Amino acid sequence: MGSVKLGAAVLAAGASLFAFAAQAEGNLNLICSADVVICEQMKGDFEKQSGISVNMVRLSSGETYAKIRAEARNPKTDIWWAGTGDPHLQAASEGLTLEYKSPMLDQLQDWAVKQAESAEYRTVGVYAGALGWGYNSELLKTKNLREPKCWADLLDPAWKGEIQMANPNSSGTAYTALASLVQIMGEEQAYDYLKKLNANISQYTKSGSAPVKAAARGETTVGIVFMHDAVSMTVEGFPVKSVAPCEGTGYEIGSMSIIKGAKNLDNAKKWYDWALTAEVQSRMKDAKSFQLPSNKNAEVPKEAPRFEDIKLIDYDFKTYGDPAKRKELLERWDREIGANAN
Ligand code: F6P
Repeated sequence: MGSVKLGAAVLAAGASLFAFAAQAEGNLNLICSADVVICEQMKGDFEKQSGISVNMVRLSSGETYAKIRAEARNPKTDIWWAGTGDPHLQAASEGLTLEYKSPMLDQLQDWAVKQAESAEYRTVGVYAGALGWGYNSELLKTKNLREPKCWADLLDPAWKGEIQMANPNSSGTAYTALASLVQIMGEEQAYDYLKKLNANISQYTKSGSAPVKAAARGETTVGIVFMHDAVSMTVEGFPVKSVAPCEGTGYEIGSMSIIKGAKNLDNAKKWYDWALTAEVQSRMKDAKSFQLPSNKNAEVPKEAPRFEDIKLIDYDFKTYGDPAKRKELLERWDREIGANAN
């Protein structure tokens, strides 16, 4: 019932946003770096409200960055919605994305505006979420394992083969994990930690949320993911519990950027302004996306992990979204961990 009402509100808001473009037409090439369910919902809502036809591809954050970089001379993408902020910042500082000051900026939380300012308006924050993990509580019991509450607990040899995380080259989630550990422990200790953790990892997936989906299905016990992705599995009815690591953890500012050289620039701007509205962000929970919205007036889902309840580090987005830093950390990960993966 609630969502029916909200759906009507979204349609009304969308209708007013597009009031002067009654017969808006044309195409929009979108890369969506969030979960496929919210990607489909966003595409469908936007098409209905604008009359613009959206060609959508779902790719992880690091994969999207690589694609946009490879296509810089002849961009095939107009807009990149969602995915962790670091690769958006990297794309911005390499001049791959376009400066745009949306009229919606004054409706956004400070962290979302700061993200835009630090990239000279070549990106903007659309949501935020903290990193942690989700575990399958039934498997935990069957396997007689103790609840892992801290990063340190995941190194226990009892967890051998029981943990999955994504590959930080393709996945923004895993890059956030890598950069968070470096900020929590210092670089040397973080790589030492990751080498030890490698002994317990059964698989490095391409997408960031895949590990907790595998935990939900009982294919692994723990998935290192954003906490909101673990919560989605719980809400879906799986025996998944989410954990905020006791030592502290990093977080993402999920972002959005217009691609420089976009062939459908006007439509990209329409999507951009629309995706920053409270109505659109309030509807994300209908797709079981439980991030914290960037529009101050958007409804914060009751399921969303609250930053007040989590020991968060002061994540240094400028440093870890810097092209040289990201490249250096990923190359070291490839050499010291990826090359020795199971
Ligand atoms: O599943 C949603 C989500 O966790 C977003 O919050 C995040 O921006 C994105 O996925 C990261 O995906 P990936 O790790 O695959 O780049």
